[in-house]
Amino acid sequence: MSKNAVLVVGDKKVELPILEGTEGEVAVDISRLRQQTGLITYDPSLGNTGICKSEITFIDGEKGILRYRGIPIEDFTDKPNFVEVAWLLIFGRLPNKSELAEFSALLTDNELLHEGLRHQYQHIPVDAPPMAILSATLSNLACFHQQLLARQDPESLAGAAARLISKVRTIAAFSYRRSQGLPFIYPDPGMRYCANYLHMMFSIPHRQYLVSPEVEDALNLVFILHADHEQNCSTTTVRAVGSAGANLFASCAAGVSALWGPLHGGANVEVVQMLERIHGGGMSAADCVQAAQDKNHPFRLFGFGHRVYKNYDPRAKILKEACDRVLTTLEYSDPLLDIARRLEELALKDPYFIERKLYPNVDFYSGVLLRAMRIPTNMFTVCFAIGRLPGWIAQWKELHEDPQRRILRPRQIYTGRAETRYVRMADRQG
Ligand code: CMC
Repeated sequence: MSKNAVLVVGDKKVELPILEGTEGEVAVDISRLRQQTGLITYDPSLGNTGICKSEITFIDGEKGILRYRGIPIEDFTDKPNFVEVAWLLIFGRLPNKSELAEFSALLTDNELLHEGLRHQYQHIPVDAPPMAILSATLSNLACFHQQLLARQDPESLAGAAARLISKVRTIAAFSYRRSQGLPFIYPDPGMRYCANYLHMMFSIPHRQYLVSPEVEDALNLVFILHADHEQNCSTTTVRAVGSAGANLFASCAAGVSALWGPLHGGANVEVVQMLERIHGGGMSAADCVQAAQDKNHPFRLFGFGHRVYKNYDPRAKILKEACDRVLTTLEYSDPLLDIARRLEELALKDPYFIERKLYPNVDFYSGVLLRAMRIPTNMFTVCFAIGRLPGWIAQWKELHEDPQRRILRPRQIYTGRAETRYVRMADRQG
């Protein structure tokens, strides 16, 4: 392929370099377009725009492929270990035994919240949305760890990353305990990452929650499948905030806010509410599939469709299989799983979904699996955020290591009034 694309504007011809990624993805480099022609490009939701070069995650949306640092997502499903995947994403390769042990020890050392932060929970309404608490508390970590705010120093990065990845569980579990009027359960340094989170969620003083290996593996799997997904909405938010020079805590807190939206991570809550509605007789699966096609209706088939995947999301495939396996092992029967399967079957046969290549995404089956672990619905998106943190951190780190980094600052096409004059109040009509 030629190394340049040629753009003809009037009688001017400009050559634009073509970039090629390791997996053959190609892009026209327009970074000097305005300088050369005075033109900008118009791509409102950035569906055709690469905002960076990245070595972290590869997706082939047509083929349904997802790889972390080159490793297919399917390779992480046997004996899933979220902490290992976090290290891989952040530091670029699989850790050796001592590196993993050292990182795990760092997480253990940082699992407690400052008591000042813990006291803040007393002043939050008991029905506060856990995603609001999470975003605010991650941001507040900057107040308690000011020594880690230096952006370019690798030790500060490692320290801030460990605090975020470790404390996020404590913050999340405390928000659940507060909502239930239950005492906070402190993290247990003897426990592994996921078991410790479940312990903080469900143990009661003098009654330890026993974490079964199936549930621990399932939670590791859920976190791994959410760990990174290249330039999605929340990750782009983290990069945008980070590009202005904001610290890692502030950048990740902004990522949580973006993730909260129902079109993004909040979709896992919408899916389960939709399945519950069908179960309760509020609407049928066929009604759902029909309503999603009505452009005058705000309803969408949540857990379906994706900007990048035009094929089955590989994460949804793994989660669907995990639901079957885990629910059987736990002898837990959930009518919502059957409803989800039926809904999927109907949608995949419907011309609307076929023509638009709309398939189940990661959020379609994750809620059913989380329910089997007794995670309440309003904590689903929080679980997504816990999983996504290593991805945000890896992307923030990559951004800061890029010598060509500049503040993220798109342009616009102004469509407002042409120049007009200020009119004093007394002279205004009507
Ligand atoms: N239900 C009904 N119609 C849909 C859906 C859906 N779930 N998803 C896409 N469409 C339609 C869309 O309206 C458009 O129709 P038309 O061509 O007639 O205008 C067509 O399909 C193509 O949509 P698109 O351009 O591929 O969609 P997008 O890239 O703008 O949006 C999305 C992607 C994920 C926001 C969208 O598919 C959606 O709203 N899905 C439901 C919410 C959801 O499950 N979100 C989780 C996404 S995966 C995990 C994550 O990122 O958090």
